[in-house]
Amino acid sequence: MSNTAPLRPQPAASEHPPLKARNVAFDWADTPLHWIPGDPFSTHTINVLHLLLPAGERWFVHVYKQVLPHIRDPRLRADVIGFIGQEAMHSQAHDEVLPHLKAQGLDPAPYTAQVDWLFEKLLGDRTLPPGRPRRWWLLERVALVAAIEHYTAFLGDWVLNARALDARGADPTMLDLLRWHGAEEVEHRSVAFDLFVHLDGGYRRRVRTWATAFTALVFLWQRGTRFFLANDPSPDVGRASFREFVRAGRRGVLPTAGAMARSIPQYLSRTYHPSHYGSTEQAMAYLAASPAATAAEARTTGGA
Ligand SMILES: [Fe+2]
Ligand SMILES: [Fe+2]
Repeated sequence: MSNTAPLRPQPAASEHPPLKARNVAFDWADTPLHWIPGDPFSTHTINVLHLLLPAGERWFVHVYKQVLPHIRDPRLRADVIGFIGQEAMHSQAHDEVLPHLKAQGLDPAPYTAQVDWLFEKLLGDRTLPPGRPRRWWLLERVALVAAIEHYTAFLGDWVLNARALDARGADPTMLDLLRWHGAEEVEHRSVAFDLFVHLDGGYRRRVRTWATAFTALVFLWQRGTRFFLANDPSPDVGRASFREFVRAGRRGVLPTAGAMARSIPQYLSRTYHPSHYGSTEQAMAYLAASPAATAAEARTTGGA
């Protein structure tokens, strides 16, 4: 169906343990609207995750449930099932931030309605005849998930190492949400790409779907940040601009433009494999110490 790359992606030696969903819960009562103190731009740039991920990760789960019957490798199948459990929990955890934003005067509904439409209608199931057209659309979406997961792993690795957020007094509950999620993204970073390679792996499809995913993410992200800043009830929150983004990257409270630019040739390299980026050990260490993850573990082992 697609061209085959002469060089095959090879995973790094390190392996992840069996994937499991951690049934976390967060209490948002004490989290201020600007949870990075005095920095509404960076706060809202990161807050865009709460707009995109509930619908986006629900869509991952929807697509992957359709893919399960096509997986011939039992180990990959187990990884995909673990991935589905983790992404469903991520979607729910970010969704639960939205009522808190609304209570603080920032109603996200006008934006999330558009994101819901994008994932449920534009990227949803289409009435296609069985056979090649239906399989083509499924493979296209599997490749899109792999491209998006390159960025969730990138962001997960970034937030695990973003010490400037601690130094600037970022809210500990929001940091724990972001780092618990980020750590699980690093933990399962190879699953979507391995699935794509297992089912297709065509290089042209990888490039095409990366271009679609990257363009959509940049568009949705800058639009989401502008939406939040325009509707923030606080005075003098400023405006979104690329210059502000570059400055926040220099302060260490957002990823740098340079790191984002470098992520592009990484994914487009014919020898790319997600296991070469990020640290499973660091992710597991965070999950062993995360307040939300350890409370979830205690509830599980306590038989709750
Ligand atoms: Fe996730
Ligand atoms: Fe993920």
